[in-house]
Amino acid sequence: MLEEDAKKMAESGATLSNLSTESRSFPPSEEFAAQANATAEWYERGDADRDAFWAEQADRLSWGEKWSEVLDWQPPFAKWFVGGKLNVAYNCVDRHVEAGNGDRVAFHWEGEPGDTRTITYAELQREVSRTANALAELGVGKGDRVAIQLPMIPEAVFSMLACARLGAMHSVVFGGFSPGALKARIEDAEAKLLITSDGQFRRGKPAPMKENTDEAVEGTSIEHVLVVKRTETDVPWTEGRDVWWHEAVDKASDQHTPELFDSEHPLFILYTSGTTGKPKGILHTSGGYLTQVAYTHNAVFDHKPGESVYWCTADIGWVTGHSYIVYGPLANGATSVMYEGTPNTPHEGRHWEIVQKYGVSIYYTAPTLIRTFMKWGAEIPEKFDLSSLKVLGTVGEPINPEAWMWFREKIGAERCPIVDTWWQTETGAMMIAPLPGVTATKPGSAMRPLPGIGATVVDESGTPVGNGEGGYLVLDKPWPAMLRGIWGDEERYKDTYWSRFAEQGYYFAGDGAKYDADGAIWLLGRVDDVMNVSGHRISTTEVESALVSHPTVAEAAVVGASDPTTGQGIVAFVILRGNVAQDEAKGEEAITALRNHVSKEIGPIAKPRQIMVVQELPKTRSGKIMRRLLRDVAENREVGDVSTLADDSVMSLIQSGLKEGKGED
Ligand code: WTA
Repeated sequence: MLEEDAKKMAESGATLSNLSTESRSFPPSEEFAAQANATAEWYERGDADRDAFWAEQADRLSWGEKWSEVLDWQPPFAKWFVGGKLNVAYNCVDRHVEAGNGDRVAFHWEGEPGDTRTITYAELQREVSRTANALAELGVGKGDRVAIQLPMIPEAVFSMLACARLGAMHSVVFGGFSPGALKARIEDAEAKLLITSDGQFRRGKPAPMKENTDEAVEGTSIEHVLVVKRTETDVPWTEGRDVWWHEAVDKASDQHTPELFDSEHPLFILYTSGTTGKPKGILHTSGGYLTQVAYTHNAVFDHKPGESVYWCTADIGWVTGHSYIVYGPLANGATSVMYEGTPNTPHEGRHWEIVQKYGVSIYYTAPTLIRTFMKWGAEIPEKFDLSSLKVLGTVGEPINPEAWMWFREKIGAERCPIVDTWWQTETGAMMIAPLPGVTATKPGSAMRPLPGIGATVVDESGTPVGNGEGGYLVLDKPWPAMLRGIWGDEERYKDTYWSRFAEQGYYFAGDGAKYDADGAIWLLGRVDDVMNVSGHRISTTEVESALVSHPTVAEAAVVGASDPTTGQGIVAFVILRGNVAQDEAKGEEAITALRNHVSKEIGPIAKPRQIMVVQELPKTRSGKIMRRLLRDVAENREVGDVSTLADDSVMSLIQSGLKEGKGED
């Protein structure tokens, strides 16, 4: 690992050397700074007494029973707000109604076809209570696992909160995952209920959903499938197992008394790709998680309850949707926009139309989408009134300075602070980000750890590097929203995150990073075999296993090559089996079939951008594939150092005999 890592770091360093000349810096206006929630003093308080700082943040929540100890840290196992009891759904819903804010809008929901729904906190309370009663009726109780695969509709939020209310854990699976991927997640979590829909709208057309989820449920622990009617598509039906949402939930009582659960009671599992083919079920618990998502949503977005209109464009199937569509904003009594569809349906100005319509003041999105908007052209947002915007945020991948500047100028009218937020499924909440009323931001930098958070860049040996130097990003202090483990696999938890810098007791994030001359942090991307495609984490191994499961493939190697829009694109190198390899026409066919095969095995998000047919793969003497060299080929660079190759003629063989297959989409 070490040698390859070092080379990767060197490469990233080279790409980033031009960034060290990035001298632009944008302080907040005096006007903004004067009204900001978080001030510079928060950093001092976070450093001076970390426990006291977090205790103060936990007071943002309503606790049924107060904790006795802020943190119990038995590395790498943390308990936060020990002995405290709370109900997460009560904190996100009921308490706002009790405080007299029942008429406040929780969600302005906008469907892709243009239908809308306005949900106040009082209505949310009734919907969540009904859903909780219906789930209980279907046998869901404390500690049970509920799988959810739904489009971006309000029922997704109701379902998650109903689970939280009952002390059941949800495992939301992104709608773009295949039946096989859903099945693997259902099996790993041993879920007893699946919540899904008849279909989903994609680019103006209804697409089937239940047909796929039925395939996933076959032969698993799932006892019932609760089905939301969204598209009025005909669906296959299994009597006794399948239940319509509108029958079960609508008839249930809208009164439900929330029970208190321990601060460390599990809240959800969310699967994410690791460096092996098997996704990791990241486990999050209640009190610490809710504390940190509420704190960061307030401080980093400068959220003002009752005033701000907040929109996070992520899908609920990813951690950003969990923490910053559902739990953080609702804990803070926010008014949010939730949008079902794609950004260009029915036209490329859809997002700006929505910003204008609802007077959105905080807009949180992904760099990939910003680059797509850039491609579509600045004249599109120009047609809309974006003057309500106050704060802009990004997440999911490094943002290049050009996209950052475009976002600032074309969307933020050079007025809105941009918060580039670094965090992970595992961290649960934001870790490195500017404070919008304090930080002079630099285009492309996430700047520094938030108050109360410890993050450092270290070298191979775990020693912190100096300004101007690069290395590995580690988290050197436990934090409230940290993962509590990998579902059912304690060893993998220790091994993946805590073994790399075991001596120092650091959490290894898997990202490379660099300090600039002023000590600001610049993220450099993953240093492990995880790709980041449009902000989606996909492991090279997962795609490789999908490829070799196809009968025409003898061997496969996958790399993430840099891509101007999606950050990284998936490029596969395959050795075809004898008879296919001989025949050119068959080769072409095979490539198309392979792209579709990967899409079917994992989901459309994992479809390779390119598949190259090769005769050999570059391997070290110990048989490890040298992806670094393949990345050179995929990115049309001169191939780097080949001295550790078992057979150094392989690279010229690959380059001379390249057959490239590129798909339509
Ligand atoms: C990357 C998403 C640079 C990083 C919340 C991390 C980022 C992985 C940023 C986690 C950022 C996320 N700048 N890189 N602001 N935010 N990443 O689990 O590589 O889907 O490890 O969580 O995305 O992705 P995940």
